[in-house]
Amino acid sequence: MSSFASRMSRVVASPTLKVAAEADRLRRSGVDVVDLGAGEPDFATPEHVKDAAHKALDANFTKYTPSAGVMELRDAVAQRYKIDYGVEFKPEEVIITAGAKQALYNTAMALFDPGDEVITTGPFWPSIGDQIKLADAKPVIVQTHMEDGFTIHAAPLIDAITPRTKAILVNSPCNPTGALMSEAEMAKIADAASARGLWVIVDFTYEKLIYEPVKHNLIKVLFERMRDKTVVCSATSKAYAMTGWRCGWAIAPKDVITQCNVIQGHSTSNINSITQKAAIAALTGPQDGVTTMLNEYRRRRDAVHAWLTADPRIVCIKPGGAFYLFPYIADLLSPSGIKSSGEFAEALLKEVAVAVTPGEGFNAPGFFRLSYATSIERLKEGCDRITTFVQKLESSGKLTAAR
Ligand SMILES: Cc1ncc(COP(=O)(O)O)c(C=O)c1O
Repeated sequence: MSSFASRMSRVVASPTLKVAAEADRLRRSGVDVVDLGAGEPDFATPEHVKDAAHKALDANFTKYTPSAGVMELRDAVAQRYKIDYGVEFKPEEVIITAGAKQALYNTAMALFDPGDEVITTGPFWPSIGDQIKLADAKPVIVQTHMEDGFTIHAAPLIDAITPRTKAILVNSPCNPTGALMSEAEMAKIADAASARGLWVIVDFTYEKLIYEPVKHNLIKVLFERMRDKTVVCSATSKAYAMTGWRCGWAIAPKDVITQCNVIQGHSTSNINSITQKAAIAALTGPQDGVTTMLNEYRRRRDAVHAWLTADPRIVCIKPGGAFYLFPYIADLLSPSGIKSSGEFAEALLKEVAVAVTPGEGFNAPGFFRLSYATSIERLKEGCDRITTFVQKLESSGKLTAAR
C-alpha cells in the first residue's frame, strides 16, 4: 500500500508543466525547440509595472504584508472592476493570492466537502478538475463541442445538478478552447443556482483577452442575481504579462474571503511584497499595453489558424478569447501509426522539435493545444514544422481515411 495520502492517487501532475519540462530538457541539450506549449505571454512586463517593483525594493518594501494582501492592492482590484464592469465591492471582499491558481484552490478548500459535486465544463484547464479532487469533492464534467464552437450552454450544466451539487464553475474565456460564455447563458445558470443555493465560481483569468467586441460582463450578471454566492477568480498574469510575479485574487462575499485567508494564512501567507506594488501599478496605471498585446494576439491567432487549417486534416475553430488554438487531429491518428494526441505531441517534439500540449490532459483526446503567445516568426516556423510532420505522416501510409 502506498504511504501517500489517498488524495494523491486521484490527481496527476499538471500536463502543461510536463510538456514545458520536456521542451526545456531538449533545449538545454542544444535542440532548437519551437515551444508552443507554454500558457504565458511572450511579452515583457510593462515598464511602469517594473518601475513600481524597483521602487518597492529600493524602499525596502520586503517584509511580510497582511496575508490577504495590502489594502491598497485589494482596493486597486475593486477600482479596476468598477471601471471595467461597473460593479462595486469593498476591498474586504478581495483576497490577493499567488495567481488565479491559488485563488481557485483556496476557494475549493473553503467551500467543498467530501462527496460534494462541482459541475464544470470540458475540455478544461487541468487544475480545475484536480483542485476539486484535492478538496475531496467530485468534478462533474459537462462536455462542450467543437461543432458549435465549444459554446458553453446553460441547459446541460443545469441538467447536471443533483442534490449533491455544491457549485458550478465556469472558465470564460476558456483554456484550452477559447470559448466565451454569453451573459444570457450565465444569467440562466445564475437563476438556477440561486434557486438551489449553489455557488457559482468564475475563472476569469483570460478576462482581458477577448478578440471581438462581445458583451462579457459575467460578474455583473452574477452580482445582480446572486452576489452572496458568487466567487470570481482572476489575476494579473495573462493580461499584464506577469505570470512569474504570481498575483491573482478572489472576489467573494466577505465571509468566504475570511475563510480563504485562514487557509492562506496557514499555508503560503501573503504573496511577494514587491509583486503587490507592481500589481497596483498594473491595475491602476495605463491600460493601453493590454490592448496592444491583444491586437498582436489577434494577428497571430488569424495567421496561425490560416496556416494550420490550410491542411484539411487539421480541423480548428477560431477562438473568441485566450491565446490558444485547439486543433482536432483525429484524421492524423490511426491504430497502425500514431494512436493518440499524447503520442502525436511526443512525436512532434521528438521529430520536428515542436512542443504542444496533448488534449488528454484537458479531457479532450484527439485534440492538441497550441499557444500563440509567441512571436509570429516562431509561430510560422512551428506551423511549417507541423505541416512537414503531417505530410511525412501521410507519406508513411499510416493515416486513416479522411473523414
Ligand atoms: C484557465 C486558467 N485558470 C487559471 C490559471 C492560473 O493562472 P495564474 O498563473 O494566475 O495562477 C491558468 C493558467 O494557465 C488558466 O489557464
